[in-house]
Amino acid sequence: MNQVIIFDTTLRDGEQSPGASLNHEEKLIIAEQLARLQVDVIEAGFPIASDGDFRAVREIAQKVCGPTIAALARAIQKDIDRAWEAIQAAQKPRIHTFIATSDIHLQYKLKKSRQEVLQQAVEAVRYARKYVSDVEFSAEDAFRSNRDYLCQVVSEVIKAGATTVNIPDTVGYAIPSEFGNLIAYLFEHVPNIADAVISVHCHNDLGLAVANSLAAVQNGARQVECTINGLGERAGNAALEEVVMALATRRALFGVTTGIKTEEIMKTSRLVSHLTGMIVQKNKAIVGENAFAHESGIHQDGFLKEKSTYEIMTPESIGLKESKLVLGKHSGRHAFSERLKELGYNLAPEELEKVFIKFKDLADKKKEIFDEDLRLLVEEGLQQIPETYTLEYIQISSGDKTIPTSTVGLRRADGEVFLEASYGDGPVDATYKCIDQITGMSGKLLSYSIQSATVGKDALGNVYIQVQFDDQIITGRSSSSDIIIASANAYLNAINKALYINGREKKKEKDEVLCQ
Ligand code: KIV
Ligand code: ZN
Repeated sequence: MNQVIIFDTTLRDGEQSPGASLNHEEKLIIAEQLARLQVDVIEAGFPIASDGDFRAVREIAQKVCGPTIAALARAIQKDIDRAWEAIQAAQKPRIHTFIATSDIHLQYKLKKSRQEVLQQAVEAVRYARKYVSDVEFSAEDAFRSNRDYLCQVVSEVIKAGATTVNIPDTVGYAIPSEFGNLIAYLFEHVPNIADAVISVHCHNDLGLAVANSLAAVQNGARQVECTINGLGERAGNAALEEVVMALATRRALFGVTTGIKTEEIMKTSRLVSHLTGMIVQKNKAIVGENAFAHESGIHQDGFLKEKSTYEIMTPESIGLKESKLVLGKHSGRHAFSERLKELGYNLAPEELEKVFIKFKDLADKKKEIFDEDLRLLVEEGLQQIPETYTLEYIQISSGDKTIPTSTVGLRRADGEVFLEASYGDGPVDATYKCIDQITGMSGKLLSYSIQSATVGKDALGNVYIQVQFDDQIITGRSSSSDIIIASANAYLNAINKALYINGREKKKEKDEVLCQ
C-alpha cells in the first residue's frame, strides 16, 4: 500500500489546544474545508465529552461528504454508544476507541493491571465492531509502553476486529530514530500486523512530531494523524501541511503518496487560524507568511535567475499565487531593479545606482519598503515631498471617565490655518478624525505601530503607520516624545504623500491630454 491515509484531528485533538475552542458552525465550516482538502478521515470530535461536541459530530456526519467521519470514544461501552449515535449517518463512519497502555498511565491514571487493560481494549473493539466495520484502536502513550506488552495489545485488538491500530507518542517524548524503530519492531513482532493499517499520532513537545511521523512512514506506518497548523494539546500535534508537503516534495525518498489536494492547504490554514484565533507564526514551515518570501540579496538574485535555487516547492502547490521578494535592508540590486521595472521604471545604470543608495538608506530606517516608497524614491526622493499640511496646534482630552476628544489646527502650504474638534474611540482616533475633516482625505488605517527610539521614560516614540487611500497603500512615520503628536504627524506625513502623488498623477493625465 503506497498511499498514506491522512487522518485529520483538528476538530478533536486540535480543538483541545488551550484557547482554541470552536463553536458548532465553525466546526462545520472547517469540516467542509477539510473535505475540499481531501483528507481521508476527519476526526470530528469526542461525542461523550459534551452535548455540544455530540451535536457537532452528528451534523458533520450528516452533512460532510467524501472523507470517513471518525468519533473518539474511551474503551467504555457508553462512550462507544454515544460515538456511534453521533456518526451513524455518515457515508463512511469510523469509531475510534482508545485506552492507555504505558505502565505510568496504568499505575497512576487507570489503576489497572496490564491484563485488565488488554481485556478492556479487546472488549471495546469487539463492541464497536457490532456497530461498524471500520474501527480504530489507539494505545495511548504507546511510545512509553513496554514493547512486548504493546505487541500483545496490537495483536489482540486486530484479532478482535480493529482495522486500524494507532501508535501515539502522546507526550511527544520520542526522537525519530527511536520512533521509526518502534514501528519496525511492531512489524517484526506482531504476526497479524498486515491485517490492519498501522497509524501514528505524534505530539510536538520536543518539536519532533512531524519528523517522528515521517520516520514511522519510512518504517511501514500508513496512516498519519495530524492537525492543520499543528494545533493540539500542549505543543500540538504533527502539522498536516508539513507531513503532506514533506511526503510530496521528497516523494522519491518516501515512495508514497497522499490523496491531499495540496492547493487547498493555504486556504485551510488561514481558515483554521482565523476561526480558532491561533495565529500562525511568520516563519512556520509551509504556511507561515515568510515561507515563500526572500529578503537577502544573494537569495533574491539566485531566485530571480532560477527559482529552484532557493525554493524546494512552488507556492502554487500549496495554493499561493506567487513567492514574495521583500525589499528591505538585505536586498540587492537585482531584486530592486526588477521591482522598479515591474513598477514601470527602466532606469539607466547610473540612475539606478543613485536610487539604490537612497533605497539602502531608507531600508536602514524602515523594515519593509513598499511600492509607494519606491515610487517616491525614484521620482523625488523622500525628503522633497511638499508638506501641504503641517501641525500647528493640538490639544487632547482623554481618561477613563471621559470621551476622548481632540482639537487640531493645521496650517496649509498657502498659510491658511484650519481648526477642527472631534471625539473618537481614543485620542489618536479623535485626532485622525480632525485631520480627515480638515484635509478632506479619509484614509483607512491598516497598521499602526509605536516603538521607543531610546531608553527611558522620556524616550522618543517612533510611530509607523500604513494607510490606504483608494487603492494606494502609503506609509507615514514620525517621532516625538509625545506619542499623540508623533501619531498626528505620522498621519499627516502619509496624507502629504498621498496628496503629492494624486497631484502628480492628475498633472500627468492633463499633460497626456494636452499632447494628444
Ligand atoms: O495523544 C493521544 O494519545 C491521543 C489519543 C486519544 C489518540 O490523542
Ligand atoms: Zn493526541
